[in-house]
Amino acid sequence: MVMNRAKQPKPATQAKPGARTADGTRGNSGLQSKLGPQTRAVHGGEPERHGVNGPVVTEIIRTSTFTFSNTEEMKEWAEGKNKAYIYTRYGNPTLSVAEKKIAALEGAEAAVVAASGMAAISSSLLAVLKAGDELISTAQLYGGTYRLMRDVFPNLGITVHHVQPDLCGIEKLVNARTRALYVETPTNPTLRLVDIEKAVAFANKHHLVSLIDNTFATPVLQNPIRLGYDLVVHSATKALAGHSDILAGVSVGSQTWMDKVRQMIIYLGGSLDPGAAYLLIRGIKTLGVRVARQCENAMAVATFLEKHRKVERVHYPGLPSHPDHELAKRQMRGFSSMLAFDMKGGLPAARRLCDRVRLFLMAASLGGAESLVILPIYSSHYDMSDEELKRAGVGPGTVRVSLGLEDKEDLIEDLKQALE
Ligand SMILES: Cc1ncc(COP(=O)(O)O)c(C=O)c1O
Repeated sequence: MVMNRAKQPKPATQAKPGARTADGTRGNSGLQSKLGPQTRAVHGGEPERHGVNGPVVTEIIRTSTFTFSNTEEMKEWAEGKNKAYIYTRYGNPTLSVAEKKIAALEGAEAAVVAASGMAAISSSLLAVLKAGDELISTAQLYGGTYRLMRDVFPNLGITVHHVQPDLCGIEKLVNARTRALYVETPTNPTLRLVDIEKAVAFANKHHLVSLIDNTFATPVLQNPIRLGYDLVVHSATKALAGHSDILAGVSVGSQTWMDKVRQMIIYLGGSLDPGAAYLLIRGIKTLGVRVARQCENAMAVATFLEKHRKVERVHYPGLPSHPDHELAKRQMRGFSSMLAFDMKGGLPAARRLCDRVRLFLMAASLGGAESLVILPIYSSHYDMSDEELKRAGVGPGTVRVSLGLEDKEDLIEDLKQALE
C-alpha cells in the first residue's frame, strides 16, 4: 500500500492540525504579496510567532522519519487522504519553510527544494519531459545543465535543440513533439540575456512548458513567474544561500507543477538535508542587501576592467557596450553580481591573472561573500569541444568573476596589481 502511495503526486508538506507544521505562515498569501521583497525574504514562509512563546528562527527538524499517531493516520496517508510528514525525502517542516519563503519571493504558488541546483533542474525537466519529446534550450547555459542535456537526455529518448539567447531561428525548431522551452538568463558565464516576455509568448503560442534558470538574476532582480513562466529553477547553492557553505536547489511554480517536481525528487532521491535548509532560510533573509552590494561591486569592477589596456572585452549587462544592455534595463532591477571578461593574450594571460589575484579567491561557484575568479574552460565548461565553447560564447581567455561583499576599492586594487 505504501508503495502505491509513492505513485500519487501528493506532497507531504502539511501536517494534521496541531502537529508541527509550516502552514501558520505569517499573513495569508494576499497579504504576503503586498509586502516588499526584503520583508518577504525575512518573514515569508515563517510560522506564526505572535502570541507564541517560541524561537525567532526556524528550527532544524533533524529527523529522517516522523511518527504516526495511529494506524488510521498511516492508512489515510497511504491513501493520499492526509499530508502528514512521514519521511524527509517526501517533506520536512524545515524544508517547507524554505519552500514557502522562496515561493513568496518569486511570487509563485509553491516551491520544492532539492539537494542541489542540478537536482532541481534534472527533476524539473524530467517532470515535464518523457521519451519521444523534444526540448528547445538556449545554447548558453551552465555547463552542468548543458552536459545533462547532451549526455543523459539522448539515452532517455529526449532530443534537445539549442538556440542562441536572442532566440533567432527558434520557429524552425518547433514540431509536434516539442514539449518545452528552457532558458537561462543572464547566461553563465557571459551574461547574455534572453527576452523573458518574448520567450513566454513563444512558449504560449506553441503550447510549450516554459522553464527558466533564474540563478544569476536571483528573485531580487527578476521574477519570471510574474511574467508568465511555468517553472523557475535556481541553484540555491549560490546567492539564495549566499555563503558558499551548502549545496541546494529549488524549483518554483504552480502547485500542480510543484506536485510533479516533488514526485520526481521523491523518485530520484534528490531531497535537501534539513540542516542545509536551515542555512538556506538564514541566507535568504539577507539576500536583498547582499545582492544590492554585489551588483554595486560588479558595476565598479566592470567599469574598471573595460578601461584596462590588457582587457579585450567585458561581459556585464550594466555596461552600455553590452549587447543586451537595453533589454537588461527593461527586464531586470539590477545588472547581476556576476561578470566575465576576455583577456588580450588569451589563455596564458587569463591564467596569469587568476594565479596573481590575492583577495579574489580562485574557485568555482558564485553568489557568496567572497569574490571569486575562475576560468570557465577549466570549470563549468570543461569537457566541451571548440565548437561547443564557441556556441556557449566561452573563449580560452574568458575569466568569470563572482562579486562578493568586500569593498570595491580593494577589489579593484587587487585586479590592478594582478593585471600589471
Ligand atoms: C546558472 C547555474 N545553474 C545551475 C547550477 C547548478 O547548481 P548546483 O551546483 O547547486 O547543482 C549552477 C552551478 O554553478 C549554475 O551556475
